[in-house]
Amino acid sequence: MSGVSRRDWLRSGSVAVAGAFVPAVAGADGIVRPPQDFKVLGAPVVQALTPTSVSIAWAVNDTSTGWVEYGEGETLGSMAGGDADGLRPLDARVQRVRIEGLRPGTRYHYRAVSVPIAFLGAYDIRRGRPYESRTYSFVTPDAGAAGRVSAAIINDTHEQPDTLKGLFTQLADAPGDLLFWNGDMFNDIATEQQLAEQLLYPAGMAYAAARPVCFARGNHDVRGAEARALGRVLDTPDRHYFFTLRQGPVAFIVLDTGEDKPDDAPVYAGLGTFDAYRTRQAAWLADALTRAEVRDAPFRVVVVHIPLYGEKPVPFHGGADARDKWHDTLVRGRVDLMITGHTHRHAWLPPDATRPFGQLTGGGPQPAAATLIRLEADTQRLVARMHRLDGSVISEHVIARR
Ligand SMILES: [Fe+2]
Repeated sequence: MSGVSRRDWLRSGSVAVAGAFVPAVAGADGIVRPPQDFKVLGAPVVQALTPTSVSIAWAVNDTSTGWVEYGEGETLGSMAGGDADGLRPLDARVQRVRIEGLRPGTRYHYRAVSVPIAFLGAYDIRRGRPYESRTYSFVTPDAGAAGRVSAAIINDTHEQPDTLKGLFTQLADAPGDLLFWNGDMFNDIATEQQLAEQLLYPAGMAYAAARPVCFARGNHDVRGAEARALGRVLDTPDRHYFFTLRQGPVAFIVLDTGEDKPDDAPVYAGLGTFDAYRTRQAAWLADALTRAEVRDAPFRVVVVHIPLYGEKPVPFHGGADARDKWHDTLVRGRVDLMITGHTHRHAWLPPDATRPFGQLTGGGPQPAAATLIRLEADTQRLVARMHRLDGSVISEHVIARR
């Protein structure tokens, strides 16, 4: 549900009755819920951006439902629920709500509301009081309207709390318009709890409540028994891990290199089909680069986890396969810069005779090797600076409009 006024919502009788969370009692099925203080864990995370929609997710510690109240003014006034097929959300770990019908380049204020639910039986469902987040605001992508953009790119954080704290502390001072988290957020995904913790309150920090985040999937993010649940927390514009996003003069193109080893590597036990997945992205990429918002942008920046280029031969099958399938299209599509991670060693490969764009690789995951890449562009010039965690500059790359 999207764009419903608060008055209509109230009239529907669906706002929780104020009051303490119901105490534990035995349900009709004889199961007694242990008494637990309901908590919202961390701040909301704004993701899956398009000029007219976003997705907002937040973590909870027990069974609850939730919605988002939002509006262009601080009085909010509209509500969006995460309901699907006639049911409002009910989840013990994550609430996620997509808001549609927004205006491009517009600031929206919002707050996330959670209501604990004691689900004691099909006919014995009890609501607690609403828990409201503080009011935050974000700006929707402008579809190219603005003459400038600033973005930050982090990668290969691998659940390292000191690195996450260092990066998010720096980003709090200068958040920019967009944050890209370029893969290997995880070591591998073993539990849903870990999914919520690492993406929604990493190192216990709020990081994308006010400035949105875009995720690019890394090879470690497709590993582990719960890797298939990544999409329950991480959201993308159309539920694919490859997408474009135009903000000011830059069209960002996010791609997914998948696993680094071949699909028939024994460690995957035959469960990976990433060669076919990269082939599928090749066709998508050829189309995406010709769309007006990408083709006509002053600059095109690719964000992808595994480097496509490097010492010959590239030591990672995923990157080499992607290069074979995407390189000609990227050149034809006039890509200006590729930003990668994965190697844990920062690097810059300048453009050469066969590759008219440079490849900037961030470091990580230990604090001493971690990097924060900042990108600033106007309609004539794009500047990428790679910083260490202490803020010092490793390298600066100035790219003129072609
Ligand atoms: Fe990686």
